[in-house]
Amino acid sequence: MNNLIEKLNRLRKERNAIILAHYYQEPTIQDVADFLGDSLALAQAAKTTDADVILFCGVHFMAETAKILNPDKIVIVPDLNAGCSLADSAPPDKFKEWVDSHSEHIVISYINCSAAVKSMSDIICTSSNAVKIVNSVPKDKKICFAPDKYLGKYVMKQTGRDMVLWDGSCQVHEIFSELEVIKLTNKYPDADVIAHPECPENILNYADFIGSTSSLLNYAIKSEKKEFIVLTETGIIHQMQRKATDKKFYPVPNLNGCSCNDCPHMKLNTLEKMVKALENLQPQIHLPEDIRLKALKPLERMLELS
Ligand code: 13P
Ligand code: SF4
Repeated sequence: MNNLIEKLNRLRKERNAIILAHYYQEPTIQDVADFLGDSLALAQAAKTTDADVILFCGVHFMAETAKILNPDKIVIVPDLNAGCSLADSAPPDKFKEWVDSHSEHIVISYINCSAAVKSMSDIICTSSNAVKIVNSVPKDKKICFAPDKYLGKYVMKQTGRDMVLWDGSCQVHEIFSELEVIKLTNKYPDADVIAHPECPENILNYADFIGSTSSLLNYAIKSEKKEFIVLTETGIIHQMQRKATDKKFYPVPNLNGCSCNDCPHMKLNTLEKMVKALENLQPQIHLPEDIRLKALKPLERMLELS
């Protein structure tokens, strides 16, 4: 592994590359990243970098977002197959029909969607700013929200706004077992339950705190509590343990009985693939310019509001 890291360090210098990584990446990838963050922080970092090459360690829609913001930079990924069930739930042709049939609505799309879907949206949001973005829409305007129905439901509750929801979900967050949450809260009665808003309502009902991956991490660091039951992808626990060394974090088993509720897409990325990507400057993200320009508008609107 040391060899690989040496190679990676040499290549990132030679290429003037920045390595951006999401909290759901393997610990080894998190440890070598130049910048680690949630979806919003990664989009902001992608906007401000002066590197020539962005090696994006996350999933496809995140790298696409970096390309939308940086048309002149080379954006590469370790594995082009790293997708997202939420993005896949909204094929552009079906999404267009939906948008066309709600012509009086403002369309807010969660950043977990394709560039084509972004190009048909009015504003993008992430789990960090979804409530703020929805609140920014005048009260007399109707809203369509896509593609995460659970995040949408949570935001409706927080804002009191009625929204038309797309029927999509995250395959990781929707399979936490409610029974296992109950068992863990009985076993660790002093622990706080912290959850990502991509979880369904029956799971969120147990949460003491709900937020994006960054917010969950900050909450765990700042809280006086010493134990946390964590309802999001297990990758974040690596940072929680690093930044709050005196605290304990308990992952929640999923409906298959495993405490390893990993995102299979995020976990496709490896150090080996990162080295190869920097060596060959492949696989690269490319976007048709008309789609990129249309997708840029709602993305910039979000960044201005954040
Ligand atoms: P955040 O990075 O906004 O917390 O979202 C989590 C996620 O599922 C990313 O795919
Ligand atoms: Fe998509 Fe869920 Fe994986 Fe995030 S954790 S990339 S929302 S499938």
